[in-house]
Amino acid sequence: MCGIVGYVGQQDCVPILLKGLSALEYRGYDSAGVAVLENGKMAVRKEVGRLAALEEKIGRMPLSGVIGIGHTRWATHGEPSEVNSHPHLDSKNRIAVIHNGIIENFRELKAFLQGKGVSFRSETDTEVVSQLLSYYYEGDLLKTLFRVIPMLEGSYALGILCQDQPEHLYCVRNGSPLIIGRAKGEFYVASDISAILEYTRDVYILEDDDIADVTKEGIAFYRETGEQVERQTTQIAWSRDSAQKGGYDHFMLKEIFEQPRALRETLAHYVDLETLTIKREAMPFDREQANALEKLTVIACGTAHHAGMIGRVLIETLARVKTETDIASEYRYYDTIDQPGETLIAVSQSGETADTVAAVRKAKGHGSRVVALTNVIGSTIARESDMVMYTLAGPEIAVASTKAYTTQILLFEIIALDLANLRGLLTDEELRERLRELAALPEKAEQVLSHREEVADFAHSEKGCEDVFFIGRLMDYYTSLEAALKLKEVSYIHSEAYAAGELKHGPIALIDDTTLVVATLTQKRIVAKTISNVEEVRARKAKILLVASEPIPLNNPQDTVWRVPDTDDLFSPILMILYVQMFAYYMALQKGCDIDKPRNLAKSVTVE
Ligand code: AGP
Repeated sequence: MCGIVGYVGQQDCVPILLKGLSALEYRGYDSAGVAVLENGKMAVRKEVGRLAALEEKIGRMPLSGVIGIGHTRWATHGEPSEVNSHPHLDSKNRIAVIHNGIIENFRELKAFLQGKGVSFRSETDTEVVSQLLSYYYEGDLLKTLFRVIPMLEGSYALGILCQDQPEHLYCVRNGSPLIIGRAKGEFYVASDISAILEYTRDVYILEDDDIADVTKEGIAFYRETGEQVERQTTQIAWSRDSAQKGGYDHFMLKEIFEQPRALRETLAHYVDLETLTIKREAMPFDREQANALEKLTVIACGTAHHAGMIGRVLIETLARVKTETDIASEYRYYDTIDQPGETLIAVSQSGETADTVAAVRKAKGHGSRVVALTNVIGSTIARESDMVMYTLAGPEIAVASTKAYTTQILLFEIIALDLANLRGLLTDEELRERLRELAALPEKAEQVLSHREEVADFAHSEKGCEDVFFIGRLMDYYTSLEAALKLKEVSYIHSEAYAAGELKHGPIALIDDTTLVVATLTQKRIVAKTISNVEEVRARKAKILLVASEPIPLNNPQDTVWRVPDTDDLFSPILMILYVQMFAYYMALQKGCDIDKPRNLAKSVTVE
């Protein structure tokens, strides 16, 4: 979705803005633009399409300055076009605005301004902001903001320049993320940490209704009421290199191969690996809360929802706590039966997904306690939840989630084991045994990843494949859901996941000799049933790939088999999915897909 960058300092801001926008490309966009105060005058360049087109335009029509803003737009109101792209100027060309989010009452505001004779250039909701500011402007933009911002409804992160105040960059946040990085004599504004990691890891995370007045000398924070407030910086632990490709052709491949490290670091954050004990202070429940728990609800979207489904099985199986999972976009509108004091676990890599944020707010409104599992420090969900457990995956840039998913599952494993122990269902010794097995997962993940060539060769042999069915039972079914999503989102190959027992109830009608069926066989106690289903699809001439735990005997030599190192059945989803992530990557690669930025998708879905 849209991306924001800004700079105030002593350097020429144009290369900095373009580099920042390039770091945000992964979010998905269809046009880009910058506004710079050049010798006291507002200079704007915008272009439809890729950032390269904007760079080319700037090459032909250069601009420079020490203060500027930049934006990548993902069209919501009005088609992707130069006039609809940001920054948006007021009619007098003195105020420039970039915006992430949606101004929900823009039609009313636009009608009001049109009634006063203001004419609009674009179809966007954003233009009302620059025009409103201009309409009420009396020489002090900060005062104008105090008047105009309360008039806006919806969600917004704004970056604003005013030609009359050439040293000031104004930032506003309400419901859409915005951070300001502090360096010596300069400030970097961004909607996303990865855009500024190169310059600083010392960041202010704006709160809703904050207005920041940024100059190269310093920064002042206000509430939209005009009251001045203090804000502290947060240190971001992510390294500068973590947001680079580091020699890989794509972020997705890099992130797949980062998983052993991400798992190790996440585990070490919650588990003392010497004593094999869980770090109490890092956990969401104490003994009393664990024993009082009657029900948990897990909400999330997409891949995070799939991790939540695995989490449900882990918590119910190990800790015997009734757990429901729901898709955040459904949960937020469903007439849920809520009791005050319930606990909701919100899972979100970005911590900014609009539906998940809304679900968190709904749950809090009903008096629930919210525990967030997220990857991004200071994200909306992290800030609005009662307790946060971070996945230490590092920045995930590829749209397709890989390392966030496996570290989310790891957190559920730790939560489930901890709850089981606190509820007296797992002795300390049994807990240590399971934690020892968890600690072995990163190495086993490395073993799976070492099969990269084999997976690439298989993908090559399946080049023309148009339909893939993933089947499995219990945990294997939930892992199959994620497998099918991964394949379709990056390679655009039609893929579905079915609980293997459901095949006979309809989907088997679609199976023929052009279908690839991927059977997931890691749940030892039920695997014989899935193998029977494999025989049913074999009889319909489907091509078969088996992803099976090592000890499971298989004896049909014509099937391709990928072996998952043996582990506790409950922990196998983390290992199994690595094969499919690589398979999805290589299928997409040979089809020439835009792997890190698949068509129509955005990394962080911050609008409904
Ligand atoms: C993952 O591959 C997807 N692109 C998508 O389903 C994603 O998991 C979903 O949008 C939720 O994002 P979040 O984890 O940042 O909330």
